[in-house]
Amino acid sequence: MITVDDYIQATFEKFQEAGIFFGHGTDNALDEAVYLVFATLGLDYDDGAAGSRRLSSAEIETLNTRRLDRIESRTPMAYLVGEAWFGGRRFLADSRALIPRSPIAELLIEKSLPFLDREPESILDLCCGGGCIGITAALEFDGACVDLADLSAEALELARENVTLHGLGREIRTLQSDLFDSIHSSYDLILSNPPYVPAEEVAELPAEYGHEPELGLLSDDEGLAIPLRILREAPNYLRDRGLLVLEVGHSHLQLSERLAGVPLLWLDFAYGGEGVLAITREDLLLYRESFV
Ligand SMILES: C[S@@+](CC[C@H](N)C(=O)[O-])C[C@H]1O[C@@H](n2cnc3c(N)ncnc32)[C@H](O)[C@@H]1O
Repeated sequence: MITVDDYIQATFEKFQEAGIFFGHGTDNALDEAVYLVFATLGLDYDDGAAGSRRLSSAEIETLNTRRLDRIESRTPMAYLVGEAWFGGRRFLADSRALIPRSPIAELLIEKSLPFLDREPESILDLCCGGGCIGITAALEFDGACVDLADLSAEALELARENVTLHGLGREIRTLQSDLFDSIHSSYDLILSNPPYVPAEEVAELPAEYGHEPELGLLSDDEGLAIPLRILREAPNYLRDRGLLVLEVGHSHLQLSERLAGVPLLWLDFAYGGEGVLAITREDLLLYRESFV
């Protein structure tokens, strides 16, 4: 007889030995093992009795296949189990879009958006992937109209599935757009976690990242080509006193260096993460010449 706890313990040991990379939703072997078992079996993370549940041979077979895949092909767990958690909510996840992990979730859950002197009524999630940021914004800012935009038709398809999963309807639109090229509205708030990894770094990332769409990671010019284009064009799509929140991750050092004279506010996160800036429409206009 094998229980959930037994399987988690054995998997924890195998994951530790295998030297897999963590960073797509967990940061250690034990949480990764729990993720595999609970998501595969559809268990409730709050169910204190789940650990003593016995596994059937069919369940063990499914778990063994996924565990082997995680170790041998280095497929991230979110893709194996088809789901990821973002800001305490479950999202569908697969290789059509990057796995949700942006610290922007915390800003939305805590409603801590600097400079914004009003509750946003219109929000754009630019480079939305599977839609986790925009959907979280729609759920947190009740009544706001949210547009989800991405260049990838596959990512937008997944975003629409997530919109349905969260019971959202007319308040959310999905738009295929090369950054702002097909956007014809203006917003109180633009949220963006765009690609910002330079090609040399993409080549050196752990094998797990190779399962994610490269379009979601890669940006030229030290990773700054896409973020700089967003900084340059965003004020045209923001309402007066509107706010841009832009993630550039590890590329924040290069961006700070290039934009030394621009008042970028780098945000702090209680639950981890870095490289997210906030800037108002007025400052974007004032410093527009710098975003080249
Ligand atoms: C880092 S992923 C972020 C996905 C999602 N926002 C998240 O936080 O999980 C970046 C996304 O930007 C999209 N993308 C890349 N180049 C783009 C472009 N020129 N215009 C619009 N979207 C683009 C990719 O398809 C990908 O879905």
